[in-house]
Amino acid sequence: MDFIHIIEKKRDGGKLSKEEIYYFISKYVAGEIPDYQVAALLMAIYLNGCDDEETYDLTYSMAYSGDVIDLSAIPGIKVDKHSTGGVGDKVTLIVAPVAAACGVPTAKMSGRGLGFTGGTIDKLESIPGFSTSLTEDEFISQVKDTGYALIGQTKDLAPADKLLYALRDVTGTVGCVPLIASSIMSKKIAAGSDAIVLEVTHGTGAFMREEEKARELARLMMDIGKRAGLEMRAVITDMNEPLGHSIGNSLEVIEAIEALKGNTAEDVYEVMHVIIPEMIVAGGKADSREEAWNMAKKAISSGRALECFRSMIRSQHGDPGIIDDYSLLPEAPYHMDVTADADGFLKVNDCAGIGECLKVLGGGRLTKEQEIDLSVGLEMRVKHQDEVKKGDLLLEIFARNKEEAEAAREQYLASVEITKEKPEKGTLIYTLDD
Ligand code: URA
Repeated sequence: MDFIHIIEKKRDGGKLSKEEIYYFISKYVAGEIPDYQVAALLMAIYLNGCDDEETYDLTYSMAYSGDVIDLSAIPGIKVDKHSTGGVGDKVTLIVAPVAAACGVPTAKMSGRGLGFTGGTIDKLESIPGFSTSLTEDEFISQVKDTGYALIGQTKDLAPADKLLYALRDVTGTVGCVPLIASSIMSKKIAAGSDAIVLEVTHGTGAFMREEEKARELARLMMDIGKRAGLEMRAVITDMNEPLGHSIGNSLEVIEAIEALKGNTAEDVYEVMHVIIPEMIVAGGKADSREEAWNMAKKAISSGRALECFRSMIRSQHGDPGIIDDYSLLPEAPYHMDVTADADGFLKVNDCAGIGECLKVLGGGRLTKEQEIDLSVGLEMRVKHQDEVKKGDLLLEIFARNKEEAEAAREQYLASVEITKEKPEKGTLIYTLDD
């Protein structure tokens, strides 16, 4: 087979065969096709798209380009949950222990933050001693014993995606629905769960700016998953403002623990209310979302969900004392308050811009390899649409020093404004069939 012919076919709007797609992925992973040729193909796909069959073949060939985890030793329907990314999104830290406390085995592999988006693995690593890398056997036995485990992706999981993602990142080909769908779903298929709940975000703090694109991505991922024999559910989330109050790794762990103690920001509660029932119903532990939500509320109010979180931390060598004493988490040395300079309503214009504050503080990364500071971050004391008076506290900044705090303050103020009229707000979350 000739790779130049494959590039030309896609450039001219043709449809690639299964054989051509498998050839491309296997030869690229083997190091037999250079990046510049693959970059040309990615751009042709970006411009001309892929139909559903091509996207499915691409996903499957990527999923099977490395290890595929076998979770069959764990009894029950294993459920995974995936978010397409956002700012202040600590949902996985909350919903996984609640689902596990309701009897749903949750075997979750998560990623690190990149750009303005946060990542669950970084958040967990702010817990002293916590290990996000377990062997496959350890991962499986922990899910069996404690109901859930949260780890980083193993090195050999979907290696084709690792290579392609790095190339897309530097060739202007990230924002393409078939490429995003195949990237995410290849890792989900390789991670071995039976059911997947997808949270697809849209808005100024998400990869997909428009809601329609988010719906298209959700539908495509649902179709790919169903074709691969998985139970699929999807919810669409508005990410036009950061979720909850905290942005930053250790700060978000505290907000998640507070949610498990029953103290939850309104928007986080709304997201929990939709995602947790989807996980419990997909896991076969309830027949309806209503029944599932009642189970979830009991798991939280009885403290069982928090105990699940504690056992998970202990099993993964972290210090469970952080649950009762937040001072055991990394704390930033410099603190700055930002106050309102007028009466009115807070309007968030650029959610990603607020996410960028974390990068300015040293808590977010530009490249996958970058070391980050897990202690820094923001506490949003006022949310989009909230009324404020001149001098009211808008934001607390936790920084390494005054210069970085000031830069984060500038970045925050460039992303919001105080308006005379109450600003509009979209629907926060709904399921795909709503
Ligand atoms: N997340 C992924 O894993 N892949 C993409 O392409 C975009 C977001």
